[in-house]
Amino acid sequence: MQRVESEITRLIKEIDYDEVTRLFNMLSGGKRLRAKLILKIAPKHEKAPLLAAIVELIHGASLLHDDVIDEALTRRGVPSVNATDGSKTAVMLGDILYSKAFTELVEFDRDIAKVIAASVTSLSKGEMQDVKMADEFNEDEEKYLDMLYLKTATLIEAAAYASALLAGKNASSYGVYGRNLGLSFQIIDDILDITADAVTLGKPAMNDFVEGKCTLPYIYLNRELNAEDSARLKNSHAKHIDEDETLWIKAKMKEHKSVEKSFELAVKLSNEAMLAVKDDKELIDILQTMIKRSY
Ligand code: FPP
Ligand code: MG
Repeated sequence: MQRVESEITRLIKEIDYDEVTRLFNMLSGGKRLRAKLILKIAPKHEKAPLLAAIVELIHGASLLHDDVIDEALTRRGVPSVNATDGSKTAVMLGDILYSKAFTELVEFDRDIAKVIAASVTSLSKGEMQDVKMADEFNEDEEKYLDMLYLKTATLIEAAAYASALLAGKNASSYGVYGRNLGLSFQIIDDILDITADAVTLGKPAMNDFVEGKCTLPYIYLNRELNAEDSARLKNSHAKHIDEDETLWIKAKMKEHKSVEKSFELAVKLSNEAMLAVKDDKELIDILQTMIKRSY
């Protein structure tokens, strides 16, 4: 991972603008899940750290833009760039990181460059769907999972697929692994928004629903509620809700096992991911660590 960080530092330095370096240094690195995945799939390839750096820059850019869109004041436990330096700066920094990443993609074979580039179109589509779906209470599980796939899983899928191509491994299997890992990861993130506290999350708890996002536990809960309770839940959608209402939602979720049902799907997807790369112990470890995050 040290080589990935060195590559990231080199790329930022090449941008040759002190303001970008200053702002970038303010960002916390995060878990670097995508970079770790690339290094585990193509450990010996000399260009794997560069590919990992590119994917992390794209991911970083997408989060900068996402925080502007979501009007989020914190990211990874620290104030977001839009909070400290304003939305215009956050958008422009995102543009710089994202275009620098794309410039570096020319160092790779066409099929690798294409799969990474195409995934960015997908994640941008997913983000648009996410924003649009937040206008109303979404009851449709499939629609929600399709959006999650685009928004979160495609870049992880592309990272796994591209690094497998780099390493001469079976790209399709690794792509399936990446897709299911990405979906499972996001579902666990959705669960943690409900079950974890604000300090652990580095952002306000139960915030998804306030932002209008009907994540899986809310979709599953709504299915079980009678007409009156369903109307009550929908009435709280996309609003700042008080402590009583939060406790009511949590109690109903407990009663109807909405979080457990969501977790079951995360585990099922994670098992599908394991099956795709069943001989690769290190990749299985990544999944197991991720599933444990939710305890
Ligand atoms: C986080 O979702 C957002 C994403 C994973 C993708 C965002 C994508 C874009 C803004 C498209 C633009 C892309 C580029 C490369 C400039 P979330 O809000 O559910 O998660 P959070 O709780 O971490 O904010
Ligand atoms: Mg967000």
